[in-house]
Amino acid sequence: MFKVICVKDYERVSDIAFETMKPFLKDGSVLGLATGSSPIGLYKRMIEDHKTNGTSYKNIYTFNLDEYVGLPLDHSESYWTFMHKQLFDHIDIDDSHIHIPSGLGDLEANAKAYDEAMDKMVVDIQVLGIGSDGHIGFNEPNTPFDETTHVTELTEQTRKDNARFFDPLGEEVPHQAITMGPANIMRAKNVLLVANGANKAQAIHDMIKGEVSEACPASILQRHPSVTVVVDEAAASMLEETDYEKR
Ligand code: F6R
Repeated sequence: MFKVICVKDYERVSDIAFETMKPFLKDGSVLGLATGSSPIGLYKRMIEDHKTNGTSYKNIYTFNLDEYVGLPLDHSESYWTFMHKQLFDHIDIDDSHIHIPSGLGDLEANAKAYDEAMDKMVVDIQVLGIGSDGHIGFNEPNTPFDETTHVTELTEQTRKDNARFFDPLGEEVPHQAITMGPANIMRAKNVLLVANGANKAQAIHDMIKGEVSEACPASILQRHPSVTVVVDEAAASMLEETDYEKR
């Protein structure tokens, strides 16, 4: 079940995302987190809230969606580095409560260990962005819906979309990632998906109004009982006005 909220711009997307996240920022909560450009504004607001209101993360647990294969942790574009820079270094979370799949070493064993760690907890709210090809996590089109944590080949579209981070370093976008599967994502009690920009309009349309199909991984969310989608006007441009609440 989707609750779709359309707002003017990215700043408002991040405000509403934070409003949605706020009730879950309490002892014992398990947060599913995403990387990429989309949740950066949300993380900024979480940091601000920690600093001004003293919201504590000491008893909060996190599970990230994915990581590139083969990047050392301290590589500037690893998702480990991203999460520390964008959030973890600025809040009081316990290092041992942070879970990010490892893209180094024995990948099969890492995937299995990640599933085992996730099986011990239930994610209260899973933050998602969406790829222009409809991916969630790094579950590219035609990933089986029942897949759990696994290694995946990134599509040319995704590698092109993410070249903006690697080009300035003179490096190639990695070809593979390790990611939670659709089945892990669907176990979260609530989902919060944020998207902005015209390049997300088709994927947002297909997720909400297309048929549920592995060709559009995000369409599986039509089967989830509690999904809040926060989009700006550009990302909502292929929806009808009756598909969303305007704020
Ligand atoms: C990130 C992730 C991806 C991104 C998606 C959108 O952990 O799993 O699914 O959410 O590629 O990326 P941005 O937000 O950079 O457009």
